[in-house]
Amino acid sequence: MLGEAARAAGYRLIIRDEVASTMEEARRALDQGDPGQLWIVARSQSAGRGRHGRSWGSPPGNLYASLLLVEPCEMALAPQLGFVAGLALHDAAAKITGLTAPQLALKWPNDLLIGRAKTAGLLLEGESRAGRFAVTIGMGVNVASRPGDTPYPASFLKEIASSATVETLLAALSDAWLARFRAWSLPGGFGPTRAAWLERAAFLGETITLRLSEGPLSGRFSGLDAFGRLELDTDDGRRVIDAGDLYFGAPA
Ligand code: BTN
Repeated sequence: MLGEAARAAGYRLIIRDEVASTMEEARRALDQGDPGQLWIVARSQSAGRGRHGRSWGSPPGNLYASLLLVEPCEMALAPQLGFVAGLALHDAAAKITGLTAPQLALKWPNDLLIGRAKTAGLLLEGESRAGRFAVTIGMGVNVASRPGDTPYPASFLKEIASSATVETLLAALSDAWLARFRAWSLPGGFGPTRAAWLERAAFLGETITLRLSEGPLSGRFSGLDAFGRLELDTDDGRRVIDAGDLYFGAPA
């Protein structure tokens, strides 16, 4: 069930048993003319996908959700929605676990960490259909279990809060999304969104290694620019990065 505020604001929910991927379900809804503000949640996925073409293991017990938004903003601003969704995930997980930053943190660009172990990931996809621009935000949250085969440490909510369920998380998450999205939609809204994100950022001020198409790049994570790109102070000066992956732990 969605939260009360989300329902009052017109958000709708479809719950499915098993699907290939909620991202495909959202695309289908868009193709059928859905007006957006639609949450699609599946109990499990047979072909869940993560960023960079990776698969996302999706057994029952965790949250697999896609939020379809139609014309939510100018197309150029859509990548910022990842920060909005990250903050909503952080708010919801904080409500359920009682944890705050830095224990509960956001990892650029799109992960939620507990104690530096990945608890949730986000996948943003944008497309245009019949002149309508749509963004689908996929959210995978480890609630009851963590995957056993990740190349990074992983955690799950029940480890911290034994009463955590997909239902309580979804109610908190959908209301948190509404509040964060409204704040971001105000004129100049990315400024406060970026500041709130940075207050919860993992590795800020630390030496990190980014996995880029050109190879690994190490430097000090010094902030986010006005577009949400990561600012990295390297031996050769400041680099501004808009796509890449952070390694956990020591630089490679
Ligand atoms: C990542 O960290 O790589 C992003 C993971 C996103 C997984 C979610 S689960 C719900 C939605 N459906 C998918 O197939 N993927 C996203």
